[in-house]
Amino acid sequence: MENEDLPPAFIADIRRLAHTYLETSDPRRQSGFGGGPARWRAEREPILDAVTSHGSLLDLGCANGFLLESLRAWGAERSLILIPFGLDFNPELVALAQQRLPEFRSNFLVGNAWSWSPPQRFTYVYTLADVVPLSHFSAYLRRLQREFVEPGGRLIVGSYGSHSRRVPPLDLERLLDSYGMSVVGAATAGPGGTVRFAWAESVSNREHPQHPRPGTSVTLFPIVDRRSAFSPGRRLRGDAERDGIGAPRARRRPAARISCQA
Ligand SMILES: C[S@@+](CC[C@H](N)C(=O)[O-])C[C@H]1O[C@@H](n2cnc3c(N)ncnc32)[C@H](O)[C@@H]1O
Repeated sequence: MENEDLPPAFIADIRRLAHTYLETSDPRRQSGFGGGPARWRAEREPILDAVTSHGSLLDLGCANGFLLESLRAWGAERSLILIPFGLDFNPELVALAQQRLPEFRSNFLVGNAWSWSPPQRFTYVYTLADVVPLSHFSAYLRRLQREFVEPGGRLIVGSYGSHSRRVPPLDLERLLDSYGMSVVGAATAGPGGTVRFAWAESVSNREHPQHPRPGTSVTLFPIVDRRSAFSPGRRLRGDAERDGIGAPRARRRPAARISCQA
């Protein structure tokens, strides 16, 4: 399954949909969302329920980067520093994401989440369920968990239904469970629960129990994520450096003492 390409009809649909995002200048609509700012926040911020530390955050199917920009801002309100990374099929949307987050422009790439090989692992990896057909979902998620998420990190999965069209979201907890992935947290949002999120730990976290477990108290150092994924050797700039990420290990001070919650 992992070596197969996605069906051409599926790819054609994605391309068609992405073109409709580009017909508007509204940042939410460019992300495929039909509501206003309040609903956007209510239906996307629960992703941060899975985020308990500073770190890198990859959005697979990032569209114009507005979700990453929003999560970064909402994360900052919680004293979390998130370094955005994004991948999307559509080059014009990736260009918009690069303009939106110019400090991190080299962190945005054009590619197919199904077949892309990441040059590094990420603390948090967010994917929507519908970036691959349901027939490919299990193999896709397993690969993300195995190859994309760094030890101690989390794979976060989202499914957006539609209240007006009476389309429910996928029952992610049940699906992930049926794939043998142990779900450590979940959230529901939107009118009638049309948005669902569920998250699982990295495979390596489960294999190496020295990493933080839910319910434990740990001292966190800022994530040492100094290099851009896509231009080796370049240091990440911006908040990360201002806040001490990238300082030599001996001089780094603990960023926080937190309780790690599911
Ligand atoms: C609905 S938008 C999601 C935007 C943002 N991630 C969010 O959740 O609000 C879906 C985006 O995923 C992209 N996409 C869909 N399938 C993809 C794939 N297999 N690889 C890369 N991008 C994909 C589309 O081009 C589109 O821009």
